[in-house]
Amino acid sequence: MYKNVIRPLFFQLNPECVHHLALTALRVPLFHQSLATYAKVANPKLETKLWGLNFGNPIGIAAGFDKDAVALPAWESLGFGYAEIGTITPKPQPGNPKPRIFRIPSSQALINRMGFPNDGLEAITCRLEALKQSGRWPKIPIGINIGKQKTTSLEEAGKDYLESFLALRPYADYFAINISSPNTPGLRLLQQKDALNALVRPIVEANLGADSKPVVIKIAPDLDEKEIMSVLECIAENHLHGIIATNTTIDKSSVSLKEEGGLSGAPLRQRSTEIIRFISRATGGKLPIIGVGGIFTADDAREKLDAGASLLQIYTGFIYEGPFIVRQICNKL
Ligand SMILES: Cc1cc2nc3c(=O)[nH]c(=O)nc-3n(C[C@H](O)[C@H](O)[C@H](O)COP(=O)(O)O)c2cc1C
Repeated sequence: MYKNVIRPLFFQLNPECVHHLALTALRVPLFHQSLATYAKVANPKLETKLWGLNFGNPIGIAAGFDKDAVALPAWESLGFGYAEIGTITPKPQPGNPKPRIFRIPSSQALINRMGFPNDGLEAITCRLEALKQSGRWPKIPIGINIGKQKTTSLEEAGKDYLESFLALRPYADYFAINISSPNTPGLRLLQQKDALNALVRPIVEANLGADSKPVVIKIAPDLDEKEIMSVLECIAENHLHGIIATNTTIDKSSVSLKEEGGLSGAPLRQRSTEIIRFISRATGGKLPIIGVGGIFTADDAREKLDAGASLLQIYTGFIYEGPFIVRQICNKL
């Protein structure tokens, strides 16, 4: 039904309009609760425990889909084992000019150059608090992905991350530090060891108390092995809790469309799996890895788990495969 009727209709429309339409629908409890019956995942073998958290299954909705945390209960209804909201910056910002999402159906891919449009800390913390008060907070773990404001210099970036970390801590089960989006100028330079150390140290210090949260780093697939090793050293030195591999790639050699931005979906699958395998070997399988990039099927998910990922995330696969992708994958895993 999704692939034969709904997706062809959606693909006639502007991708960002469809995105807003989908999120608007998913905010309505009756709508996502009615999907829950069909999306339900019942496979106890897939239950995963990590950082003291219980994941009903290892598949989460990746950062960027629910940037403003408007549809948290829906992700649980759709069978996701967890959800990662954001990227959130301290102040609201509009992101890059539209159009900024492009489909490449022949390659099962997307290119985006969103540039972290989001409502900012104040609005999002209010929304999260209201959800908590309403008693509708989902039972699945919630990760919060944080980034820097476009106008903040790289030297000052650490302050943005720390501010968001402190304000959002009461609502996060884990934090993802996003230093790998290709759409915020210079952001990916923060993956260099000295810059990364300077950025994470204040967070690590603030994270020492009783309300300590797992903190992971999200990396780009365009790093070479030496660069990945230096991120891993920083993670080890600062006792961070894991890594997300990977964000979108700037390598568009495999697709016909050459729009500026990051490429996601099927063309990213192999590279992201190679990086997961490399990290797993380099760390003796000890560092928790969240694998993301080009997961559409149970085979794609299995490939990343076999490469060493503990958890997985999906973005582009959700657009192409539809709202029941988690159940489709989990039933076959
Ligand atoms: C439209 C779009 C927006 C995204 N926004 C974010 C974001 O705000 N923060 C982030 O860390 N990743 C973002 N991503 C990257 C995804 O979280 C994911 O890492 C990437 O798309 C690879 O997974 P996929 O092949 O399943 O899409 C975005 C991806 C897309 C397609």
